[in-house]
Amino acid sequence: MKYRQFGHTGWEVSDIAHGLWGMGGWSGSEDRESLEALQLAVDLGCNFFDSAWAYGDGKSDGLLGQVIARNTGKRIYAASKVPPKNLKWPASPKYKYQDVFPPNHVFKYADLIRKQLGTDAIDHLQFHVWDDHWTEDSDFRSTVDGLKAIRTGLVDAVQVIYSIFDQSPEDELFPACQELNIGVIVRVALDEGSLGGKMTKDTKFPSSDWRSGYFNPENLANTLERVEKLKKVLPAGMSLPELALRFVLSHPAVSTTIVGMRKLEHVRENIALSDKGPLSPELLRELKQHRWDRKPAPWSD
Ligand SMILES: NC(=O)c1ccc[n+]([C@@H]2O[C@H](COP(=O)([O-])OP(=O)(O)OC[C@H]3O[C@@H](n4cnc5c(N)ncnc54)[C@H](OP(=O)(O)O)[C@@H]3O)[C@@H](O)[C@H]2O)c1
Repeated sequence: MKYRQFGHTGWEVSDIAHGLWGMGGWSGSEDRESLEALQLAVDLGCNFFDSAWAYGDGKSDGLLGQVIARNTGKRIYAASKVPPKNLKWPASPKYKYQDVFPPNHVFKYADLIRKQLGTDAIDHLQFHVWDDHWTEDSDFRSTVDGLKAIRTGLVDAVQVIYSIFDQSPEDELFPACQELNIGVIVRVALDEGSLGGKMTKDTKFPSSDWRSGYFNPENLANTLERVEKLKKVLPAGMSLPELALRFVLSHPAVSTTIVGMRKLEHVRENIALSDKGPLSPELLRELKQHRWDRKPAPWSD
């Protein structure tokens, strides 16, 4: 496993990290399998785990807490997120900061999350949604100061969608993070699973599963068309998830990528590719052609 600096925090985080959203509520989750997957990741050197209160109302925080308690000799970095009070995803300038993250709401959830994790402090606490208009709000600044979690500035790291499809963070966000030494947590590098390469036009999710909206017939068809094009440029011996994960890790601004992995085989496969390093410059140039700028839709996250 390779490790990278996490912005200016001084932490060394594994470049393949574990995302717990699926474990908190996607269909097909089983706690026993999830706990085994988390433990296997720890055993293979993964030390960064991304959870959120919203992933099952504290459920994934609790699973992570169990893993932390079982591995007291190891430094495990736990990231979680305060849910928006208005329960609206994604954020929008039309919502006022005070309606989304009022101080008493943030403190209440910070404490609930900490209890689920079973720790004295939360390593990396995130706002689950964000709108840049809130930056100047004095309540935002005083809340962050009050949490005493951020030692060196208002922001230590950002979490952003980045994948072969969504390459937009390269335009402005990544250069700014490199200039300011801000950590970058990439999420959804596998596009919620489509870049795992196992979906077909017949793939269906129960209506209670968030993916039933994301992979609606129109998005599923458009996505699979692009997935097929990508399969044509796969170098011999390389799988699609390997291409997708090594693509994001090839960018030097990236500190870590959190991958949803409930299956043990996925943990093994993804962690093994950490040591393979960046893709070749020729392949990265080719992958630029696969950029897909999508407009946010009500079903996207
Ligand atoms: N801040 C936010 O609002 C937000 C939004 C979305 C996600 N996130 C975070 O980002 C993390 C990652 O995103 P995600 O879990 O939504 O999506 P993702 O990582 O893009 O995709 C996860 C899916 O890919 C499958 N998968 C993993 N490795 C694979 C492999 N080698 N081959 C084939 N399939 C593979 C997983 O299967 P199994 O699970 O069955 O192993 C799961 O179905 C989340 O868990 C969460 O921590 C945050």
